[in-house]
Amino acid sequence: MPQGTYHFPKGFLWGTATAAHQVEGNNTNNNWWKWERDGHTDGSAAVAADWWGGRWREDFDRAAEAGQNAHRLSVEWSRIQPTPDTWDEEALEKYRAMLRGLKERGLTPMVTLHHFTDPLWLGNYGSWETEAVVPLFEKFVRKTVDALKEYCSLWCTINEPTGYALNGYVTTGVDSFPPGKNNMKLAMQVHANLIRGHAASYRAIHLLQPEARVGIAHQYRPMMPYHTWSPLDRLLTNAFNTTVNSFALTLADGVMRSPLGSIKIPEAKGTQDYFGFNYYTREYVTFDLRHASTLFGRHFYRKDVELSDDGFLAMEPDGMYEGLKWVVRTFPNLPILVTENGVNSADDSMRPRYTVQHIHQMWRAVNFNWPIKGYFHWSLVDNFEWSFGWKYRFGLWGLDVDTQKRIKRPSADLYAEICKENGISSEMVQKYCPESFEKLFPS
Ligand code: FCB
Repeated sequence: MPQGTYHFPKGFLWGTATAAHQVEGNNTNNNWWKWERDGHTDGSAAVAADWWGGRWREDFDRAAEAGQNAHRLSVEWSRIQPTPDTWDEEALEKYRAMLRGLKERGLTPMVTLHHFTDPLWLGNYGSWETEAVVPLFEKFVRKTVDALKEYCSLWCTINEPTGYALNGYVTTGVDSFPPGKNNMKLAMQVHANLIRGHAASYRAIHLLQPEARVGIAHQYRPMMPYHTWSPLDRLLTNAFNTTVNSFALTLADGVMRSPLGSIKIPEAKGTQDYFGFNYYTREYVTFDLRHASTLFGRHFYRKDVELSDDGFLAMEPDGMYEGLKWVVRTFPNLPILVTENGVNSADDSMRPRYTVQHIHQMWRAVNFNWPIKGYFHWSLVDNFEWSFGWKYRFGLWGLDVDTQKRIKRPSADLYAEICKENGISSEMVQKYCPESFEKLFPS
């Protein structure tokens, strides 16, 4: 049986990612809390993983013991700025303690400044639908970065702007986000304002902290033509890719392309010091007369592919490699961080092979000398999965929400071995997911 280890470069960051609303609990002053109360989600975040109550300590201990050397978390705007004219210094102090907690445990902090949630008061200013949000967001960013910069220099301004705009303003199904509108034109405006908010913050952060590294966490979800021979499938695939993946290009040339036309945002050009890459799955697109609302294009997972719990994600690890290739070609020489990757697998049956195979694809990319600097697994501990509530479990550690007890899944040990080895060995694969052995170590 072949033996060996796929090693990563020295200094590679290995961590997990979380987001404030999903782990903190009791974020009563934001739009998601209201959305949950209005019955749009499967349950409520409630106390979540109780990080605001202090349980971040035990979870950071676990991360550190498991050999992780970085952690990506987000701060909650509605806590830091509970009204347009007030700052909550205690909340900032708590975040400072958390970041200090990471440093003391040897974990490099990465802070996301906006991860899907908005303070309720932002609604009075039109949320992200008008440009009025740009100076408001920038003001929050300045205050927060100034307070936290002693402990952090790696910033993500906005998590998945495309997800925010499309889920909130186009999607109407079970996975929709607040405000639950269905207006593509407005979605594009919202998206443009998120990018404007990012660009303004990028500059503001660099003024406060010249050594800062600032970027966005882009969701990358490749769309492939189902019938490669079909011009229609290829055309529709292009339209879907433009809608889902091409917004990142705005940071390359200052033009935001959409199926409804382009919007010029020149100030966004060149405003990222790394490319934040969130990858979960890949989809296929075909012409289908029954799908008039999506330009007669139907998008779906391949039939012969393994699906996660409830069919939420398809296991498409080489889509990760293809996505990284797209990033390298589009943004040559820009460092890349895999800011999220993971799977909902409550019984952990799928997570070990999902994790190993995706990290292996990242290793292939690293071996072309593509500048990939770190990987953040989603997630450290089960957390509130937006519309799907507690139904989807993404944690290396499981969570009993009522008792707050953490339950270690085998994947936590597997990921610990990967972090400590700075690579994937044949022994690990044999131990945790022997069914993937032949794929990674063919005889
Ligand atoms: C990403 C989100 C993250 C989490 C994962 C599963 O799109 O950024 O908050 O919900 O999906």
